[in-house]
Amino acid sequence: MQIASTISQARALFDVLPRPLGFVPTMGALHEGHLALVRRARADSVAVAASVFVNPLQFAPSEDYTRYPRDAQGDQAKLAQAGVDVLFAPSPASMYPPDFSTSIDTGPIGDVFEGAIRPGHFRGVATVVSKLVNIVRPDALYLGQKDAQQTAVLRRMVRDLEIPINVVIVQTEREADGLAMSSRNAYLSPEQREAAPSLHHALQAVRLAMAGGRSKADAIAAARARLHPLAQLDYIDVVDANTFNPIETLSPPAFVIGAARFGTTRLLDNLWIE
Ligand code: PAF
Repeated sequence: MQIASTISQARALFDVLPRPLGFVPTMGALHEGHLALVRRARADSVAVAASVFVNPLQFAPSEDYTRYPRDAQGDQAKLAQAGVDVLFAPSPASMYPPDFSTSIDTGPIGDVFEGAIRPGHFRGVATVVSKLVNIVRPDALYLGQKDAQQTAVLRRMVRDLEIPINVVIVQTEREADGLAMSSRNAYLSPEQREAAPSLHHALQAVRLAMAGGRSKADAIAAARARLHPLAQLDYIDVVDANTFNPIETLSPPAFVIGAARFGTTRLLDNLWIE
């Protein structure tokens, strides 16, 4: 695996990679969920690129940018082992020089749910992903379904701005007890880790109750009762998968989405309704 740490090194390497080229953008602290994206890109493509970049633009000043888990050496070993050809691992200064000032407004889809709780988050995600895609110039972009709203925002951006890539969404990898894999799981205390799968169970309860004919309001009330007392719920809802507008029935394509805090750690999860 070759490693580029500057944009000019990256361009020189990406320019000569054979096609089709699959690209997996990450913020590092890699787990099986990321490696499933790499494996899918590997199966679909002749060459595979990945990035590791903890993007300061998508963190509010009060959030965990500085303490976000970082493991550069471990990440490199995992990506090389998974068959990545080129890793792009830039510094924040090279991605965002002092006079960097352009950003992407993701519109209403980026203002609800995660966007309402984390104002500016999707602006930061869309801006970095468009910059990364312009540097890597892949044929396909691989994203994890765990961040369902992020996938909807980025699919919309690619469509609206005519970015010539396929967006491939790969299903969520879970621990044996149902907890969605996430780099932030590393923050959980043993008690919080035990409580965390209750978010997934609550989403399953919503899906089951609505499939059995109960109203969304009833189903969500029942699901709240399934949450572990350590979980502080931010939201549970059922939304149209393309717009993220709340809907009252399980009409596909839709997501049952949820977010909860376990201590200071916020976890997201969703179920895809197809
Ligand atoms: O999902 C992530 O890890 C990040 O939001 C992404 C897509 C790599 C952009 O920084």
